[in-house]
Amino acid sequence: MTDPLVGRHVTLGVTGSIACYKAVDLASKLVQAGAMVDVIMTDGAQEFLWPITFSSITHRPVVTNLFDPQSELSMDHVALAKRSDVVLVAPATADAIAKAAWGMAGDALSATLLATEAPVIFAPAMDANMYDNPATQENVSKLRSRGAVIAGPAEGRLASGLVGRGRMLEPSALVDHVRIVLGRDGDLSGKKIVVSAGGTQEPIDPVRMITNRSSGKMGFAIAEAARDRGANAVIVSAPTALPDPTGITVVHVETALEMRDAVTAQCEDADALIMAAAVADWRSAEVASQKLKKGSAETMTIEMVKNPDIVAGIGGGRMVKVGFAAESEDVVENAQSKLLSKGLDIIAANDITSADSGFATDTNRVVLLDRDGGVTELGLLSKYEVGHRILDKVVQML
Ligand code: C5P
Repeated sequence: MTDPLVGRHVTLGVTGSIACYKAVDLASKLVQAGAMVDVIMTDGAQEFLWPITFSSITHRPVVTNLFDPQSELSMDHVALAKRSDVVLVAPATADAIAKAAWGMAGDALSATLLATEAPVIFAPAMDANMYDNPATQENVSKLRSRGAVIAGPAEGRLASGLVGRGRMLEPSALVDHVRIVLGRDGDLSGKKIVVSAGGTQEPIDPVRMITNRSSGKMGFAIAEAARDRGANAVIVSAPTALPDPTGITVVHVETALEMRDAVTAQCEDADALIMAAAVADWRSAEVASQKLKKGSAETMTIEMVKNPDIVAGIGGGRMVKVGFAAESEDVVENAQSKLLSKGLDIIAANDITSADSGFATDTNRVVLLDRDGGVTELGLLSKYEVGHRILDKVVQML
């Protein structure tokens, strides 16, 4: 189990909104993720872009006309409808949404939407007044009630100069919507997976704090992998530079104590907890309410008190507990003893001294140890792939 886009047929319907320039990037991202992408351009889209813009990226013919004798659809007008694992209409104009809501079938995209049994995602893009118009709102509700996903639109500056609801979601967010739809019946469907991420921040005074080099990338990647297998994924995140991922609830915390409370609350109905956060072992015994003054002394001492061990103190029952051991020496031995002392089911051990694993990188080199003595050495993988391999084990244990 890996990225749900790999080897899947995505039909991308592109309609006549200026946001269709972003559909080029969207097609590229879908192809890069391993999908086979068939593009249908409406007449409106062809006023903005050429079919070759898409075919150069997808390496597949682009459908521009239902009645084109050269097109596959001239022999089987529902060929794409049948082949699709998912149909994504991005951008979706008010006109394209109206046609779909009313079951029109006079052009290649409408006919494909009417004939397909695959899930359909619309990414609306239009002027705010057009989107807010009751006609469009009714059409959108109609499509939603029939099971379509309406992804967006976002609020912001529109091509018309207005600011409002009507911006197409960014291509990376739309790719995630496709992953969510393709993965929703996956092996974690109906399961709640809580993942902690990032390095906690322990304040000293209003301007200073103690923290660590955790980027949060590992935890976010695990949560994305869980989401893409159908899980209800929740991240309890210490501050990171990462945006909240699409389709994942992110609970933002700063300190270890806040993280403990949030993780405890989220775990009440969770099936698994994966602690990828770098929790500070210590916090300042007292947090000064005013900025500490430099003074004349050459040294200064801060008294620290120990933070509770979050993962050791939580759960039991049927919840699967996964920890991380970021080590710089005796990696497997140290991880083994943490597995036992913290009551974990699985521990992912990594050597943080190696350049391609650990903090801030997009890859990781991890050894998985489980409570039954199993040892699985994963080679160099993307953090998203590492997430999937950890989740493979979680699924076995659930
Ligand atoms: O003891 P150490 O920090 O190396 O253990 C790492 C594992 O324990 C990680 O999964 C980390 O998220 C978790 N941990 C915790 N609470 C702490 C410290 C670490 O849950 N106070």
